[in-house]
Amino acid sequence: MSSLKDKVVIITGGANGIGRVSAEAFASANATVVVWDLKTGALPDEINSYSVDVRNSDSVQKATKTVIERFGKIDVLINNAGITHDASLLKMSGQQWRDVLDVNLTGVFNCTKSVAPHMISKKFGRIINTSSVVGLYGNYGQTNYAASKAGVIGMTKVWARELGPKGITVNAVAPGFIATEMVKTIPENVLSKILEKTPVGRLGNPDDVAHIYLFLASEHASFVNGAVISVDGGYVG
Ligand SMILES: NC(=O)c1ccc[n+]([C@@H]2O[C@H](COP(=O)([O-])OP(=O)(O)OC[C@H]3O[C@@H](n4cnc5c(N)ncnc54)[C@H](O)[C@@H]3O)[C@@H](O)[C@H]2O)c1
Repeated sequence: MSSLKDKVVIITGGANGIGRVSAEAFASANATVVVWDLKTGALPDEINSYSVDVRNSDSVQKATKTVIERFGKIDVLINNAGITHDASLLKMSGQQWRDVLDVNLTGVFNCTKSVAPHMISKKFGRIINTSSVVGLYGNYGQTNYAASKAGVIGMTKVWARELGPKGITVNAVAPGFIATEMVKTIPENVLSKILEKTPVGRLGNPDDVAHIYLFLASEHASFVNGAVISVDGGYVG
């Protein structure tokens, strides 16, 4: 993998799970890493972390200004922050619906809208949006999450067209079931069914996703635009 030296990379939701492992991987590839998360917690010193709520466009715009003032540019935005709040359709409250859409869909809109002008002015950028197998195949009890993750794919395809001519590629990554806090909420019997449907026979690791983020951010991916890359061990929904 080529070096990402001199690249300024923002990772939302980078304080935990896939985002955190990715932040460490980008730092190891010599990128300047900025994490935006609700609580930044104990991240290694080489990672620059800011408390940002992606649901709030003022918070995102302020954080964008801070990154530009401190580092002068933004090369890569990874819209990785995401939440679940599961219930079957008839049990899902309006609040559960809005909570998930606010983070997973509006959050991606807020961050991309705020960061894109700084990429356009440099005629270079890589935007990576985190979708999910659930956005591709659906999943019991996840009306809100599936809508948000399918929406992320839709936005990716629009932005690939709008921003491609301006030197910016926009792609989505659709992870399968990855061993993080998010998956710990899945009951044991459901998890064993998921494993049966995963030909490689294991859950993914955050690293499996981080490697794809690294590839999409690298010079090797300059002709990949508007793609949805599944990282799911061959999961069939
Ligand atoms: N774990 C999986 O199996 C899996 C599968 C497919 C897709 N994904 C997606 O991958 C991404 C990362 O998931 P994960 O498993 O690492 O989750 P995680 O819960 O471990 O981490 C998510 C991070 O997002 C942050 N976050 C939540 N709301 C936020 C907000 N309003 N503003 C800023 N940050 C906020 C959290 O604080 C947390 O640090 C998510 O978009 C998730 O939907 C995960």
